[in-house]
Amino acid sequence: MSKKYSRYLVPSLRDARKRINRETIIHKYELDSKYISLGAGKTYFIKTYGCQGNLADSEKIAGILEELGFIKAECEELSDVVIFNTCAIRENAENRVFGELGRTKKYKKDNPDSIICLCGCMAQEEKVIEKVKRLCPHVDIIFGTHNISQLPELLYEVINTSSKVVDVLSYEGDIVEGVPLKRDHSKKAWVNIMYGCDEFCTYCIVPYTRGRERSRLPEDIIAEVKSLALEGYKEVTLLGQNVNSYGRDLDINYTFSNLLTDLHKIDIPRIRFTTSHPKDFDDATIDAFALGGNIMPYLHLPVQSGSSNVLKKMNRKYTREEYLDKVRKLKEKVPNISITTDIIVGFPNETDEEFKETLTLVEECGFEGAYTFIFSPREGTPAATYPDEISEETKKQRLYELNKLVNEGYLKGNKRFEGTIQEVLVDGVSSKSDNVLTGYTPNNKLVNFNGDKSLIGEIVKVKIEKAFSWHLRGKLVD
Ligand code: SAH
Ligand code: SF4
Ligand code: F3S
Repeated sequence: MSKKYSRYLVPSLRDARKRINRETIIHKYELDSKYISLGAGKTYFIKTYGCQGNLADSEKIAGILEELGFIKAECEELSDVVIFNTCAIRENAENRVFGELGRTKKYKKDNPDSIICLCGCMAQEEKVIEKVKRLCPHVDIIFGTHNISQLPELLYEVINTSSKVVDVLSYEGDIVEGVPLKRDHSKKAWVNIMYGCDEFCTYCIVPYTRGRERSRLPEDIIAEVKSLALEGYKEVTLLGQNVNSYGRDLDINYTFSNLLTDLHKIDIPRIRFTTSHPKDFDDATIDAFALGGNIMPYLHLPVQSGSSNVLKKMNRKYTREEYLDKVRKLKEKVPNISITTDIIVGFPNETDEEFKETLTLVEECGFEGAYTFIFSPREGTPAATYPDEISEETKKQRLYELNKLVNEGYLKGNKRFEGTIQEVLVDGVSSKSDNVLTGYTPNNKLVNFNGDKSLIGEIVKVKIEKAFSWHLRGKLVD
């Protein structure tokens, strides 16, 4: 017999659009002692889709579960708790998750007590919850992006009452500090500096699934980075949907460039950040970049389109010229920098001329990589209702043309390092051979070279011998 819902709190995209002007409350995570041995003798498995924000959330979910006594399972099929931390950015991302959720039905045959959970951005969509209810009634828990810290309570309820729960808030929660973390990597760490997004680019669902923009306090971020440095971490990546607007919601006159300047003083070898928004990427941030040292010479600066007209329809709040100007200034002050971007083709009624403007901008900027997408209408966003006469065929052709150009940029960007000596943070062994190590240079280029496993986690010097489109090949320098 199918289980009943003991709570059923669904979100609404319309409510999620509202922004209430109030101060963010910072809570301290505390675990109620009644949940402490909930996971004793049990295992968990988390599948993460989407952006770095989701990867960071999965580390929190894992941290909470381990505090409850769960241990990480070797594989999904045999796990007692399976969690799908999902992404709603494009339709194909969602379809994939439904395919995988369908397959989990059979896990219940082997392990009737197993608990299947759906969370992340898809869980913030009412239509997804209705679809799960209809097509995947074996899903036990749905929780949202705003109530991750409530997971112990939801698991407790499902385990003790043999029920199912849906508990998703439309409005963002506040900030919860001190959530336990089980980091995936022992030398590289994600550090959230803010949550949510207030930009409302017309194509994008994130402001609805992640809520109002909320910045963590500088002292909390600085303390986290300092303690990571002490633990031997070599790299931190600061996370936010628009890191350049960091601090805007705090009443303390402290901006992203102030934060970078403060973090620059900490003894940690590498600082990266993502994602930057061209509208708010300012001179002060360029100056912070120019400090060099542990601030890595790599910037991901999504442009989305090279046409000012399309940018306006996307509500990006900058023009082609303004974007080019910022890139020019940055390259003047940090000549060695590598810049990558995100581009959407086939935005509703994008003309051939507008698309060509994207191609010329790609050339002018000399991007060393780009994530390219065909526009995917997301229910609830303005652009999903814009009239669109462009055929799928044309959109695919544009993507193909753009990717050809982008790939040339990857190769050019790699070639300029041939013959140089690079500091490489060693990530692990290559999937192809046990003797080959892989790692990243300051400019975020992937390098393969022969070396011993004992070097994993170290920063080593590598002479770059040959550049390929997707990686560099090098040799250890003694
Ligand atoms: N906050 C970041 C990342 C947002 S999501 C930023 O502002 O850049 C990552 C990328 O997905 C976006 O940069 C955009 O290129 C793409 N994207 C977002 N919504 C999309 C949609 N509806 N269809 C196609 N691509 C989309
Ligand atoms: Fe989406 Fe725009 Fe916010 Fe990025 S800045 S998450 S593209 S709304
Ligand atoms: Fe996807 Fe949500 Fe990130 S929609 S891209 S997981 S913020």
